[in-house]
Amino acid sequence: MAKDPILQPDVHTVAVIGAGTMGLAIARLLRSSGCNVRVYDARGVTFAEGSGIEASSDLESCVVGADVIFEAIFEHLGAKQALLQEIQDLVGPVPIASNTSTFRPSQLVEGLAYPEAVFVAHFFNPADVVPLVELVPTAKTDPSAIALTRHLLQDAKKTVVTLRREVDGFIANRLQAALIREAAWLVRNDIASVEDVDAAVIHGIGPRWAVAGPFEIMDRGGLDIWQSVTERLFPLLSTDSSTPDALLEHVRRGELGAKSGSGFYSYEADTPSPLSRLGAVLDAATPPDAS
Ligand SMILES: NC(=O)c1ccc[n+]([C@@H]2O[C@H](COP(=O)([O-])OP(=O)(O)OC[C@H]3O[C@@H](n4cnc5c(N)ncnc54)[C@H](O)[C@@H]3O)[C@@H](O)[C@H]2O)c1
Repeated sequence: MAKDPILQPDVHTVAVIGAGTMGLAIARLLRSSGCNVRVYDARGVTFAEGSGIEASSDLESCVVGADVIFEAIFEHLGAKQALLQEIQDLVGPVPIASNTSTFRPSQLVEGLAYPEAVFVAHFFNPADVVPLVELVPTAKTDPSAIALTRHLLQDAKKTVVTLRREVDGFIANRLQAALIREAAWLVRNDIASVEDVDAAVIHGIGPRWAVAGPFEIMDRGGLDIWQSVTERLFPLLSTDSSTPDALLEHVRRGELGAKSGSGFYSYEADTPSPLSRLGAVLDAATPPDAS
């Protein structure tokens, strides 16, 4: 009888392709939960002695023998498709979890011999701190590939949600984009400043959403109240379907945000990102009985 890859007691081996922002954090995360982790990057990669992570000098030595392969290369459809093809030529139908933020998994599998092995595992930066991972299968994805990946990620203390079917933006980026559209509308119509819109999220809805999602927020507030809120406000909310002018204008001027020193705000080169405090914030927000 074939071994069940979830139930067998051996340590799992994972391959991570692409050692950028996301790949390195995914590698650290899976190493910390006891996986053997190999990493390959086309530009080369090295790890400090004692990291326990193996740097592979080529794609083949990284993926052969891996139980799951995490793809975290540039967000370029052609490059991702070519890599998936190359991986499948080397290892056949081994599960491949792509960290794409914008492509649907059915776009990634076009032309592949083993489409059933490929799905999306969408992490959030920093991937070793933010708990959520969205798993997005295609109609053809083998449920056992999803089950094995879910098991590995839950062992690494991730909160895993699996979409019933693919959609652009998955769950979290659709929610985030809806909020950003309304934030841009409020500033464009001179209702409030950028700083005050940000403050309303950081000090108002953000802390609540760290402990309860929108449906529980409605339950807690009272569904009759939310009936009034949605009846009155939904017809008044922004339905803009183009990128906000203010964002386009910053990009046109080369103001790309923190990485270029300015965007909606100005940034000093050595000012730490508030995201560096996220681990402590999440610890504080975790209920006492949660593991
Ligand atoms: N950065 C984020 O906030 C974020 C969040 C969620 C998902 N993602 C997604 O994760 C993926 C990686 O993003 P990132 O921010 O880590 O990118 P990055 O630019 O930091 O790193 C990409 C790495 O991939 C390597 N690479 C490119 N082509 C390769 C190939 N064919 N083989 C091996 N290595 C290759 C590059 O050398 C680079 O080191 C993208 O699909 C992105 O959309 C990013």
